[in-house]
Amino acid sequence: MRGKKIIVGVTGGIACYKAVGLVSFLKKSGHDVQVVMTENAARFVAPLTFRAVSRRPVCSEAFAPGDAPVPHIALVEDAALFVLAPATANTIAKLANGLADNILTTSFLAAQCPKLLVPAMNANMYANKLTQINLQKLRDSGCVLIEPETGYLACGTQGTGRYPDNQVIVRKIDELLGLTEKLRGKKILITGGGTREPLDSVRVLANNSSGKMGLALAEAAEQAGADVVYIDASAYDVQGLQEKIAEHFAAVDVLIMAAAVADYRAARVSPVKIKSGQERLTIELTKTADLLKYFAGQRKGQYLVGFALESTALRENAEKKLKEKGLDLIVANAVSALGSNESTAILLDKHGKIETLELLPKIKVAEKIMERIAADMHG
Ligand SMILES: Cc1cc2nc3c(=O)[nH]c(=O)nc-3n(C[C@H](O)[C@H](O)[C@H](O)COP(=O)(O)O)c2cc1C
Repeated sequence: MRGKKIIVGVTGGIACYKAVGLVSFLKKSGHDVQVVMTENAARFVAPLTFRAVSRRPVCSEAFAPGDAPVPHIALVEDAALFVLAPATANTIAKLANGLADNILTTSFLAAQCPKLLVPAMNANMYANKLTQINLQKLRDSGCVLIEPETGYLACGTQGTGRYPDNQVIVRKIDELLGLTEKLRGKKILITGGGTREPLDSVRVLANNSSGKMGLALAEAAEQAGADVVYIDASAYDVQGLQEKIAEHFAAVDVLIMAAAVADYRAARVSPVKIKSGQERLTIELTKTADLLKYFAGQRKGQYLVGFALESTALRENAEKKLKEKGLDLIVANAVSALGSNESTAILLDKHGKIETLELLPKIKVAEKIMERIAADMHG
């Protein structure tokens, strides 16, 4: 679920072999990693090694025969991040001056995603004013840099220029990709989809909830490092859903009720199929249990998030629901969000903080909700 396309550019420094560990770690974390190497990098570590750990052919030639008509553009088109590790003084100088003389420098120049550089070199090369000017140019153009470490260098001297620990680079990558695990160690119960109330032995009273928001929330919560339990409400009536939530509720830190729970059920469920011959048929409905209110009353420190789907007076109705049900946070959606991949939303919390999210993919809305929960829970 964490998977993003990451380009790892490798240049010809002694720390090339350490980039093998970085690529391997990113691949194991579920990312799609494309390695791009300079010719000089291939003198230090064979492309075959990077191909094996990334499980993808390495790009090392700008004019290589292949399927993509313009390889350096196709390479970076849907990339989430370009990491240059290790970055040699030579390639840094080229990039700072906009040179594009090989597949790595050309694709770097074409990439529009965030860019992270990990300079590693001899201390004098690093301290050289020209290198420092080049690094500053790259910072000014929006690149993020990880400072090299100070210590023993491969050339046999001490100084600043060492390639940092790969975990330092991974933490920065997670931060740039918005994957920082803000909810690590938290257990989150999420409901999604719509409940189905039986009318007779074959028919149900259902709603148009697609469950997309619930699944987006589950994905965002996992990305944030939480331990997630997802309940698909479409497998239950309201009472069944209540029982299912109750099985987990005591053990969780957060309950997010994104499920569209029926407000009414049939007063009597026919044990057999209702005959279809009647011209008019009246079914008496009765109120179902209010699950949000019920679990708000049961909680022992759990953080409770509700959803409000309204046709009119979105904010006013959501504010009322937040207070009446004693929630920590409510997400108000317009009815147009039903079934769609996108949603506008208003987040209102119990302290009166309001955040309006313009039309966004549901996964982005879900990520914002996780950020709010994490910020609130960590006080
Ligand atoms: C054994 C050896 C180790 C090197 N280590 C580094 C290094 O750690 N950092 C660096 O910037 N250059 C280092 N260089 C110099 C680069 O390999 C050289 O500048 C080369 O042109 C870089 O090419 P590239 O940037 O296209 O990969 C080293 C050279 C040799 C022969």
